Amino acid sequence: MSRPQSKFACQECGASFPRWVGRCESCGAWNTLVEEAAAVVVPRGLSRGRGRKIEFAPLKGETAPAPRIATGIGEFDRVCGGGFVPGSALLVGGDPGIGKSTLLLQAVGVLARAGLSCDYISGEEAVAQVRLRAERLGLADAPVRVAAATDVRDIVTTLDGKAAPDVVVIDSIQTMFVDSLDSAPGTVAQVRASAQELIRLAKRRGLTVFLVGHVTKEGMIAGPRVLEHMVDTVLYFEGERGHQFRILRAVKNRFGPTDEIGVFEMTDAGLSEVPNPSALFLADRKVPVAGAAVFAGLEGTRPLLVEIQALVAPSSLATPRRAVVGWDGGRLAMVLAVLEARCGLALAGRDIYLNVAGGLRISEPAADLAVATVLISAFAEVPMPDETVVFGEIGLSGEIRAVAQADVRLKEAAKLGFTAAFAPPGTSARRHALKVREIGHLHELVARFEDAGTAVPNAS
Ligand code: TYD
Ligand code: MG
Repeated sequence: MSRPQSKFACQECGASFPRWVGRCESCGAWNTLVEEAAAVVVPRGLSRGRGRKIEFAPLKGETAPAPRIATGIGEFDRVCGGGFVPGSALLVGGDPGIGKSTLLLQAVGVLARAGLSCDYISGEEAVAQVRLRAERLGLADAPVRVAAATDVRDIVTTLDGKAAPDVVVIDSIQTMFVDSLDSAPGTVAQVRASAQELIRLAKRRGLTVFLVGHVTKEGMIAGPRVLEHMVDTVLYFEGERGHQFRILRAVKNRFGPTDEIGVFEMTDAGLSEVPNPSALFLADRKVPVAGAAVFAGLEGTRPLLVEIQALVAPSSLATPRRAVVGWDGGRLAMVLAVLEARCGLALAGRDIYLNVAGGLRISEPAADLAVATVLISAFAEVPMPDETVVFGEIGLSGEIRAVAQADVRLKEAAKLGFTAAFAPPGTSARRHALKVREIGHLHELVARFEDAGTAVPNAS
């Protein structure tokens, strides 16, 4: 038999190496390798004729829609695709302190009141602390069973007994350990092994397990990413520190779509749902200023209006600053290049700051036109026309392309009191009270700001 060997696993990405190196060759992180005992694997060929024959079935056949349990927290259910599926494993990732424990305690509180048996196992906080939090959330009377434990063997033994619950929360998976492994809790091997045991239990007993996972600085789920393929659903809880908004996003879902978001607000009595996020993200809007525009976006199936802001200032640096919050820096570089090359805007020698208000992250190309609009508006120091939303994708020659679901975007804008829209050509406003101004090329957008009074300063 071969001698048990040790291997070195990167705590960031999970790659393993036969010997220690200072820098992980897989993800490039420094000093993240930790020695772990490798499982003893004795490679052996399969002897013939031992296995059982597996049965094949046609694709068409009896199916039942997956039953779902709705928590009653609408935003949470929306992200799970209308409620979570019993017997599934869900991973809830997010930065420390973002509100994962709060969200899950609220969820099990509501479920327990509705009659499901729910357990909350904390490896980070003592029972008294969880109680304090529950009191603060107004859930002290909910029949949730709370325990402080970190040993997976104890947890599995307890939950596998007669009193198996319907739902169990493990907060957090990084504090759990399996006693048959030498590695410390929080290492890749421990996180993986603990999750595997808990998920196996969930599948066997048909109970739903929520695993809380902290995210590292680099934005990956620590114990990192090694859990994503094991669970059925990966939810991300995100938000900017200093903002009270929190966004729950599905990154993977075996039982539903992954493009929905849920919006919450952190209050002193826990997380409250925000059923109409557009109103929230636009709440601070005041008189029109140069360099601000409202983008009519789409998150999943839901329209979302957000304000985009830009500041363009003369730079004293050899390489001007480009700072972006909430959007892709590469995409900004593209929009700037198109504005410069196709419209002659002299943006090269200027510092440019771009910000998506409210701490939201936008990834849609449909935001291109809104970004171009705020840049031109900031550069020309001319405010956007009142009560106007913007959407459209920009091509490299400066042409504006149509985007999906223009109707839904316009409808949301009309609902929130907007009266006009800058939109790609061919956008029909027949069904809405909005006045659509079709923009075929970036030239036309620049011309609109020129017409609005001050001439746009030109490169020549
Ligand atoms: P928590 O759920 O402990 O975060 P996580 O489990 O993701 O680490 O939430 C921590 C933050 O939330 C903490 O800084 C305080 C804040 N908070 C409120 O603002 N209101 C509340 O009612 C609660 C319970 C927490
Ligand atoms: Mg916590």
